[in-house]
Amino acid sequence: MSVNTALTTRLTTALGLTSPVVLAPMDLVSGGRLAAAVTHAGGLGLIGGGYGDRDWLIQEFAHAGQARVGCGFITWSLARRPDLLDVALDHNPVAIMLSFGDPAPFADRIRAAGAKVICQIHSVEDARKALAAGADILVAQGGEAGGHGTAARSTFTLVPEIADLVADTAPDTLLLAAGGIIDGRGLAAALALGADGALIGTRFWASSEALVPAAIQRHALEASGDDTIRTSVYDIVRESPWPARYTGRLLRNAFTTRWHGRESHLVDALPAAQAAYRDAQAQHDPGNLNIIVGEAIGRVRDITPAAELLHTITSQARHLLT
Ligand SMILES: Cc1cc2nc3c(=O)[nH]c(=O)nc-3n(C[C@H](O)[C@H](O)[C@H](O)COP(=O)(O)O)c2cc1C
Repeated sequence: MSVNTALTTRLTTALGLTSPVVLAPMDLVSGGRLAAAVTHAGGLGLIGGGYGDRDWLIQEFAHAGQARVGCGFITWSLARRPDLLDVALDHNPVAIMLSFGDPAPFADRIRAAGAKVICQIHSVEDARKALAAGADILVAQGGEAGGHGTAARSTFTLVPEIADLVADTAPDTLLLAAGGIIDGRGLAAALALGADGALIGTRFWASSEALVPAAIQRHALEASGDDTIRTSVYDIVRESPWPARYTGRLLRNAFTTRWHGRESHLVDALPAAQAAYRDAQAQHDPGNLNIIVGEAIGRVRDITPAAELLHTITSQARHLLT
């Protein structure tokens, strides 16, 4: 008996997908091959433009080939290099996702290029601003998510609150849930909470196509959800000027144990800490590396091709919902 891997929502109808799953634009992890794999399997792949590296972006759009993919940027960083948006728009992306900052300065250019404007938000106030900027799709990200975000809200309460706000004020806008979704149960829950689909990061981080060293992926498979932490220590050591409200969720290790809660000491010890961090990067040392995953890593136990993940998640959700 063949398994039905299609699931129809407002998102799939609007974008011509067969699965309401969008690959999170994980900085330097969601490359063109991963994005294309998700798109070919019926979802939407977003390349992780992140802080913005022109050559990497061009290379990864090339790796996506003819697949219909989009791209995501860290908004405050894009504001420093707005030319990178043109690089992405030159590749006719399906959508551009903006996270962590004011989307308004970029939204018109994205729409004028024929791409959807996706805005990742972390609060009701963020959602109102994104709607005012004309977002086509909101991503409501809870604090359990991997990567940057805020600790203020969880997916379980944020998604239905934003779903109601959208229904009341901008009913044509679509909503994705993000944070903690790795399987069909999570996708079904997201739809039940009022979302039109899910944006998934951590589960695809542990896919065969993700641009993550295999040894690091295997290391993370040992972790439970208790082993992640929200912290700024890696932003401090990289001297990355994140606005104060955002922290990153990542795996605890010797580096976070040493510096989390002792941030002012880290600032004082920066040259030595930066040397240790560079060594960790060169040696793929999980004790000191920034391994970015969300709480849901606790239930990821294998490295799987993205298409297989997408089909399993979608068919499980379909089964649960029907
Ligand atoms: C390794 C990693 C890198 C990420 N990088 C970005 C990024 O560059 N831009 C962004 O908008 N979100 C980024 N995120 C957050 C995702 O967009 C998404 O909100 C999150 O992965 C959803 O939660 P989950 O990890 O539990 O699936 C990243 C997440 C991970 C795991």
